[in-house]
Amino acid sequence: MSQSNRVGEPADGGEQQRLATGSAGLDLVLHGGFPANRLYLVEGDPGTGKTTLALQFLLEGARLGEPVLYVTLSETKEELTDVARSHGWSLEGVNLHELVPPEESLKAEAQYTIFHPSEVELGETTRAVIDEVERIQPRRVVFDSLSEMRLLARDPLRYRRQILALKQFFAGRRSTVLLLDDRTSADADLQVQSIAHGVLMLEQMALDYGAERRRLRVSKLRGSRYRGGFHDFTIKTGGVEVYPRLVASGHRQEFEHDSVTSGVAELDALLGGGLDRGTATLIMGPAGSGNFLTAQMHELLSYLNQQGVVTILVMAQHGFVGSGMDSPVDVSYLADTVVMLRYFEAAGAIRRAISVIKKRTGPHEDTIRELRLSASRGVEVGAPLTNFRGVLTGVPVFVGDAAKNAPLLGEDDDER
Ligand SMILES: Nc1ncnc2c1ncn2[C@@H]1O[C@H](COP(=O)(O)OP(=O)(O)OP(=O)(O)O)[C@@H](O)[C@H]1O
Ligand SMILES: [Mg+2]
Repeated sequence: MSQSNRVGEPADGGEQQRLATGSAGLDLVLHGGFPANRLYLVEGDPGTGKTTLALQFLLEGARLGEPVLYVTLSETKEELTDVARSHGWSLEGVNLHELVPPEESLKAEAQYTIFHPSEVELGETTRAVIDEVERIQPRRVVFDSLSEMRLLARDPLRYRRQILALKQFFAGRRSTVLLLDDRTSADADLQVQSIAHGVLMLEQMALDYGAERRRLRVSKLRGSRYRGGFHDFTIKTGGVEVYPRLVASGHRQEFEHDSVTSGVAELDALLGGGLDRGTATLIMGPAGSGNFLTAQMHELLSYLNQQGVVTILVMAQHGFVGSGMDSPVDVSYLADTVVMLRYFEAAGAIRRAISVIKKRTGPHEDTIRELRLSASRGVEVGAPLTNFRGVLTGVPVFVGDAAKNAPLLGEDDDER
């Protein structure tokens, strides 16, 4: 976003200008950043990363030479400086205003109203903030956090009026405001959600195993496009890093639609010439490891296909032989090609069979061939197993003529 693009008037095409957030991933989610000169609610339970994200937003502004203001009611300057230090940031260029409520404001009689010139009812807290904003004329403002303002306002009506007054106050100014809320009030603050131009929700989930998982979601953004849904993010030294949810349709690309061969002639024959670029192949068979989420898989496969990648998925099925095979997830409909592996028994030995069940992009053999894996010879695929019936059940019946038909792998091979 260019410097001249940040003043507040819509850029060409009538698109609202955006303020880069300091996180490349969040900018992608917001289609370029927060629309300028509006008021936003950033909400999330304690520890979800509101302060970190807000500081990052201000530091980005400071980096661009904008006056920025952090109004803190919850964390002291020392605490904020500690947070910044933990990420290797200097708060130089960020105006910190620590709002310590004057002692008398905590007394009941001080809660009576004073009047702003615009005859809007304001509390002491709001008044102090307004003075500071008028002095600094910040392009970006952060309030950390609303829960203290709610406490100081005492009753919900008064609180709502104060928030409305703040919004009105900023309406005529070129300030983009983030109101942080830790959601410690008893019920969801729908009031502020409705007043805000946009709402960003941060979440943190503790998993049974491993580190916590963080994700965010834009739950509202008036008159603007954004990438919906949950986006994972992390907090590490250096700040918040957002990983926008993959939307495959945004990544189309030209590529040559040729096919990729395996180097094993029989396998390529089985596959009708190889695997085509831009398709996904599922290899199903017993034992091994892995687990998928179908929707995410679909998006990921669409993306890879559009990039012309030959994708191979391996899925382990429960059970070893016969019809009792069970797949943990049905992804067979997502794959363009499905290859099935099975164990079968023949002449007192366990052998592997391979067959192609479907191939969306072209013809393939309907045969079942034997597959052999060995360290010395790598992957070997035998002739079609025309001698047997019921190979896929695991216990085939020999129906051929041993003298005439192709042997199993290794049968004609005295070395092994
Ligand atoms: N340098 C760092 N590396 C990794 N994680 C960090 C680092 N600094 C902070 N964090 C993580 O960020 C979390 C705190 O984030 P932050 O202070 O922004 O939360 P918050 O939403 O403002 O919380 P509160 O509502 O309590 O003010 C910490 O709990 C910690 O897990
Ligand atoms: Mg905080």
